Amino acid sequence: MTAGRATTWVHAWDEATGRDRATDAFTASYGTAPDGVWSAPGRVNLIGEHTDYNGGLCLPVPLAHRTYAALRRRDDDTARLVSAWDPTDAVTVELAGVAPGTVEGWTAYVVGVAWALRERGLAVPGFDVAVDSCVPVGSGLSSSAALSCSVALALDAVGALAQDRAALAADCVRAENEIAGAPTGGMDQAAALRTVPGHALLLDCRDQSVRHVPFDPASEGLALLVIDTRAEHALVDGQYAARRATCEEAAALLGVPTLRELTDSPARAASALATLDDGTPEGGVRMHRVRHVLAEITRVQEFVALLDAGRLRDVGPLLDASHASLRDDYEVSCRELDVAVEAARAAGALGARMTGGGFGGSAIALVEAGSVEAVADAVDAAFRDAGLRPPAFVA
Ligand code: GLA
Repeated sequence: MTAGRATTWVHAWDEATGRDRATDAFTASYGTAPDGVWSAPGRVNLIGEHTDYNGGLCLPVPLAHRTYAALRRRDDDTARLVSAWDPTDAVTVELAGVAPGTVEGWTAYVVGVAWALRERGLAVPGFDVAVDSCVPVGSGLSSSAALSCSVALALDAVGALAQDRAALAADCVRAENEIAGAPTGGMDQAAALRTVPGHALLLDCRDQSVRHVPFDPASEGLALLVIDTRAEHALVDGQYAARRATCEEAAALLGVPTLRELTDSPARAASALATLDDGTPEGGVRMHRVRHVLAEITRVQEFVALLDAGRLRDVGPLLDASHASLRDDYEVSCRELDVAVEAARAAGALGARMTGGGFGGSAIALVEAGSVEAVADAVDAAFRDAGLRPPAFVA
């Protein structure tokens, strides 16, 4: 181990700061005040990874880090957009012309929401918007969903649409899938719109039903350390889409609408895995992918049972098993994520795993409250020893 160095911490803004920043950006760009400021958080997922698009279960918690959208209704059909991180790059879009393939980049996550609401027949007005955010971008912490969901809340309010949050989350998924072209599965949007502080969101992606499960590590002398590996990986979207396609192929081969149906009985799950493992290389890959999904759904159930029993201290092995399954069966981990979780565990974490889609992004570690800094230092040192760029810690 080499000597310690200053670790990098990415702190959340308090709400007043976020609102002021978005308001100032709005006023600077448009010379008038917004109708209001709406916000939505980034997330980490405690467990239940790559299960959402399989009709499975997941368990995200909101971050204190949020995206703030200052927005004002217009009387025409135009949308003007500006972001505080690039105020000179203002974009103007005619909403009537928005369709799949017409908009790119972060703009798609904003006007895509207006498009999705209109596809449902809702009367969405034109608007001016300025966004600012303290959700780290490209870190697997759902900065995209925080953006689309903050805009959904804003449009719902200025258009007096009175939509519930489950419906708005579905619109944001459509916006990301069809306008931004990201085949995301729905967990992130539910986390941004349907979580409440102090609770994890048990999301059942079969019917989008939710349960708010109390989650308060501090009350048990614990903390959740979020490690942004800052690993940049190419082909992320292609790999994500490939995993999703393999699962859909396997479900079709097995004659079920989603892999979730196979979790109804252990015997059914075992026979499905045996059927998939047909001796061909493709069959072997399918079996491994499906084995991860089925086991991960069970781990969510076990994790929630422990939370319900007040036994957060006992979830470590489930976190570790989830990471191993994502690394070995689902093959979405990477060196930086593996180094992060191994170093955290070696420094005393009760358990650790990658969180989010993988191929870079962030990991979480459940640690004693008094050892947060020590674990962060150990992870930072492990990155240095491995010749990796320094990670950041999200708090
Ligand atoms: C990304 C996607 C989510 C989910 C996770 C993996 O974050 O946006 O829908 O599939 O990966 O659990």
